[in-house]
Order: sequence, then C-alpha cells, then structure tokens
Amino acid sequence: MSDKEWRTHNHSGSKRVVVTKELPGDRWLKVLTEADCKVEICTSTDILSVEEIEAAIGNRCDGVIGQLTEEWGERLFAALKAAGGKAYSNYAVGYNNVEIDGATKQGIPVGNTPGVLTETTAEMAVSLTFAAARRVAEADRFVRTGRYKGWVPTLFLGELFWHKTVGVIGAGRIGAAYARMMVEGHKMNLIYYDLYQNKALEDYIAAYGEFLRAQGEKSVSCKRAESVEEVLRQADLISLHPVLDETTHHLINTERLAIMKENAILVNTSRGPVIDETALVAHCQRHPDFRVGLDVFEDEPEMKPGLRELDNVVIVPHIASATIWTREGMATLAASNVAGILMGYPAWQDQDISLFLGDDPPKAAPSIVNAKEVGFPLYME
Ligand code: DGY
Repeated sequence: MSDKEWRTHNHSGSKRVVVTKELPGDRWLKVLTEADCKVEICTSTDILSVEEIEAAIGNRCDGVIGQLTEEWGERLFAALKAAGGKAYSNYAVGYNNVEIDGATKQGIPVGNTPGVLTETTAEMAVSLTFAAARRVAEADRFVRTGRYKGWVPTLFLGELFWHKTVGVIGAGRIGAAYARMMVEGHKMNLIYYDLYQNKALEDYIAAYGEFLRAQGEKSVSCKRAESVEEVLRQADLISLHPVLDETTHHLINTERLAIMKENAILVNTSRGPVIDETALVAHCQRHPDFRVGLDVFEDEPEMKPGLRELDNVVIVPHIASATIWTREGMATLAASNVAGILMGYPAWQDQDISLFLGDDPPKAAPSIVNAKEVGFPLYME
C-alpha cells in the first residue's frame, strides 16, 4: 500500500477491488458489495503515481477503478495481472490515459463510463461559450474590485450568437448534444467536422428547420465540412469535442488559430492537448477580441506561461462532467464494469446504458472498450 490514506468497505468480501479516489454516491459500493467485493478506497485527493498504484495493487487484487489523471500503461496492467487481476475501469468516458494495447496484451478488459456525461458536459460547453462571449468572469472581477461606477453604454460589450454559425469539431455524443443546444436555443446554423457523418444530427436539424419555417421564422442549416479549416474559417464560435489521440494532438495550432475570425469564441471541454496552449496564449495576447472558454489545459493542473493573466480566457478546473447525477452515474458504470467482469458477465453492446442506472440492471458489463481484442464475451439478448 502507498502511504496515502485508505478506507475499506465490506471487509468480508472475497474479491479485492482497489479504487484510487473517493467516488460520489453509494450505489457503486452496493454494486461491488453485491458482487462480493471488498473495496479499498484511497481517500487522498493527491494524484497517485504509478509506484503508489502498484503498491496498492500489491500481490492480490481482482480489479481496479482508476482515474483519468493516472498513467495506466502496460506496467500497471502487468502488476494487476500478476496480482490475479481481471478487471480495470476508468472513471471517465475518455481513456487517453490508458494504454489499451498494454491492457489487451495482459488480457485485461478496460471499462469506461459513456452516456452519463453527454448533456452535463455539453451544458458546461454552453456555459463556457456564454461566459467567454459575454465576458462574465472579467466583468465579475471588475465589480468585485470596486471598479464599477455605474451603467455605461460601452461597458463590456460582447458577442451575440442569434442566427450566427456554430462550429463543432467532433460530432459524437457530446458534440452533437452541444450543437443541438446552440442550434435550438439560439437559432444558429451548424457547421461540423467529424470523420463520420452524424446523420441523426443532420436529420434533427433539418426537421427543426422545417418546424421554424412552419412558424414563419427564419430556418437553420446544418453542414458537414470537408476539413477542420472550413469550420474554423466560417464559424463565429467553435467548440472542440474530439477524442485525444495522435491525430488530434495540437489540432488547434498557430496556423489554425490564424484562420479563425478575430472575434471568434473557442471552447474546449475535450482534452487540453487538443490545443497548443502556448500558441493559444500568443494568439489571445495579440487578439483581445478573440475569446476562449477552457475546461481543460495542456499540462493540467499547470497552465502555460501567460494564460493566467489573460482577461479574454475563462478557465474552470476540468469540471464539465461535475453534476451529482453524472458523477454518481459514472461511479455506477465504473463499478458495474468491474463487478460485471468479476461475475463473468458479457459486455453490453448497446450504446444506451441507462438500464444500468435503474433498479434491475442487465447482467452485463456496461462498457468494455477492448472487449473484442481480449476476446471478452458479448451480450446477446
Ligand atoms: C471524462 O470522463 O473523460 C471527463 O473528462 C471527466 O469529466
């Protein structure tokens, strides 16, 4: 064990599960207890090192729930395997911190927690959009430091989005939810870039456009762009929702920032390294009307030099999924992944994981990202 503090739940469980952070709610503990697991939880908020996690795994451990702040490479999967481990779940939908090939090589299935973050994360992207566009944090600081001397017509002018163009890069579940919120709420036209066409989103916006026309209102449009550049050039605001991998690392760089509108808004709730943060700082310094909302940064929790001082950037500490419902749902899914694997259940195949949040969950592990690669059985009705 590491020298961090730990607490144990269900001492009599026959299987040992290590959880590297406290998780919200208690449903997840019930899931693991019903699967006969003794649960050892690290109560420290410090980020555990590879060595500390290795020590926690020890010489007998059946499964682990880990965090996106930890480096789950082959070394840890080998340690887990050597301790008799069979299950790992990330407490996150994203798993760029996990070396999937390393886990697969050790025969360890890796779970994640999709489906419960969609609207919550999209709502944070919307919040950051308006916080940046309407200069909320900057104005708040202005008032608190006693600089407000009364209403002035030119005070804190920002951007209006009504009937303008929203750009989305990465139109998966969260990107599409954000797009709908902006299109429906603010009658924006959408331009998106994704390797895959999102037909459901396109049909939805087409039907919404029809509805608006029937009301005698101006319609909205939806276009799938051929390149990232096309989105950056045309959109008045851009929200980033790609997964982080080698193809999206520094997707937004000096050249791409330069083709965006000078008063565009850029929002990132995906992963920090999708933006070259040093380039972003330089761009924001030169373009005070360019505004940014960040939930994530490149070297979290550190910020690149100059970012902290920028008034045209609103920053929050990676809290896009931080609602009680979502974080408890993530805990239930992560626990159900580990419990499901340890109980010998197959991997759930449906994108809809809502049944796992109900009273009679399926006998399956809700989301195993390398199920096929490790030859994990698949759930068949
Ligand atoms: C995830 O689940 O990937 C998020 O970043 C956590 O909010």
